[in-house]
Amino acid sequence: MTFSSLEWCQPGTLRILDQQHLPRQLEYRDCHTVADVVEVITTMAVRGAPAIGVAAAYGMVIAAQSADDSTDAMRTALEDADAQLRASRPTAVNLFWALDQIRAVWSPEIAEQPASEVRAAIERAAASLFEDDLKVNLAISKAGAELLPHDALVFHHCNTGSLATTGYGTALGIIRVAHESGKVISVLVDETRPRLQGAKLTAWELQELGIPYRLVVDGASGHFMRTETVHACFVGCDRVAANGDTANKIGTYNLAVVARHHGVPFYVAAPWSSIDLITATGDQIPIEERSAREVTHIEDISVAPTGAIVANPAFDITPAELITAFVTERGLVYPPFTENLANQATAS
Ligand code: MRU
Repeated sequence: MTFSSLEWCQPGTLRILDQQHLPRQLEYRDCHTVADVVEVITTMAVRGAPAIGVAAAYGMVIAAQSADDSTDAMRTALEDADAQLRASRPTAVNLFWALDQIRAVWSPEIAEQPASEVRAAIERAAASLFEDDLKVNLAISKAGAELLPHDALVFHHCNTGSLATTGYGTALGIIRVAHESGKVISVLVDETRPRLQGAKLTAWELQELGIPYRLVVDGASGHFMRTETVHACFVGCDRVAANGDTANKIGTYNLAVVARHHGVPFYVAAPWSSIDLITATGDQIPIEERSAREVTHIEDISVAPTGAIVANPAFDITPAELITAFVTERGLVYPPFTENLANQATAS
């Protein structure tokens, strides 16, 4: 791909590809402050669970670089940045996971090390989260591509590609590796209302990659599973609970129900950073409620009566029993998920 979803530029700038303007414009934005990073996460200029996590990690690098040298000033700046970034979006656990990784670097060291060492350690940790995400995505993509036969028709929801990660993607990475390995793959891409990640982002990425696809409305999954042979559904995730219940973009649950009805395997591509074994079930996963305007308007055009009462949960929970397997960088995890996720966590 000829773009990068996010990039660390010296001195002290996080450059993100502003996903709000795609596919019309390839526009980059530079974040120089923690508030800038919070803003790009909140407005979804950067989005997708892994990309959000890495962006937050670089938010902490910016905080450290702009703090004064004294231990107290550095601690206050880092605590403050950590709290602001944690409050930016609630559902994707990668955000909290990434901030925990960064905290593990600075929290015990801060009193003993000079400020320059603390800054360097945080920057190294953020860079390694960035690089690891790419490796993880490639591992997931290779493991998942094995599941697909030649000539496969695949259903995909939301955007899980290079834009949502530091590169390659998870569910979309699987499709990409299958295509690159010579398998003929065709994708049914749903629009993913209300933010249209499918139409605006996934369709664009597939087009750039030369992978055949058809863009369909969200409600069309039943129709296509009834009238054509869909070999598998591949989706990403924002948080997987210990029992396998999975939070992902709103509409994932509906797709999983339709897939089960038609006997279509339903795979969740899940980097281990999205698996939250502390949270027992999907009922404990916080679901982000976003603004009514996302539903009442498409771009700036109103599509609902003035004063319409709106509910806009950005994610839903797919119950574990509808999931065929998780595709992780540590391999495939099949049911029973409570046992197998826990075993896999301790195995590596
Ligand atoms: O609200 P978004 O666009 O950040 O939601 C993104 C999704 O739900 C993705 O499917 C998920 O983060 C996985 S991305 C590899």
